[in-house]
Amino acid sequence: MKILVACEESQAVTIRMREKGHEAYSCDIIPCSGGHPEWHLQKDATEVLKQKWDMIIAFPPCTYLSKASACRLYPTKGNLDIERYNKGVKAKEFFMKFYNHPCTKIAIENPISLKVFSLPQHTQVIQPYEHGHAYSKATRLWLKGLSKIKPSNIVEKKGTWVPSHTSKNAYSGKNDKCTRDPKVASKTFPGIAQAMADQWGGIK
Ligand SMILES: C[S@@+](CC[C@H](N)C(=O)[O-])C[C@H]1O[C@@H](n2cnc3c(N)ncnc32)[C@H](O)[C@@H]1O
Repeated sequence: MKILVACEESQAVTIRMREKGHEAYSCDIIPCSGGHPEWHLQKDATEVLKQKWDMIIAFPPCTYLSKASACRLYPTKGNLDIERYNKGVKAKEFFMKFYNHPCTKIAIENPISLKVFSLPQHTQVIQPYEHGHAYSKATRLWLKGLSKIKPSNIVEKKGTWVPSHTSKNAYSGKNDKCTRDPKVASKTFPGIAQAMADQWGGIK
């Protein structure tokens, strides 16, 4: 299959889909860090969406949509930061370009979103601890023409992956520095990328 993995700089899913024999490409506005620039389309995903794809997996930016950012959208009780709200509206428009694409196999990943943006109903919530990583990070998937991801390796939780201002259970082990770097924290967990390739990459 010709597979687009949009908004992916790590190439975590792209590489695993290649291992399954698919013609997979990562796409991001920044260079890839996965070591395969020959499989990377460094451009705006909306341009790449004009091509024909057999499957689209997208990780659109969640900065302005995520529930974890509520304190910045409402800096004081009842007051909305309009500039930030407008950025959230734009982020939803970008998200919907994947959601409304005519491709018959679509998966979109994002964290729990703010109700004010009324994203479509998600299909399922997955967790890193269901795929071999000892953290919780509730991650929504919107799926069309693809089966729900089943847990591949359930392990005991140690804490949350991305500490939020409300979290009392933030992970504070050796890798804590990583979890506080948004670029590192947003990379797809290897176990989740493997589950996506194993469970969706076998489809003809
Ligand atoms: C939440 S991160 C997802 C990272 C992904 N999970 C990974 O492992 O690489 C969102 C990504 O979308 C990229 N991005 C933002 N706007 C984009 C656009 N218009 N087209 C393609 N990628 C875009 C960002 O550079 C960022 O790498």
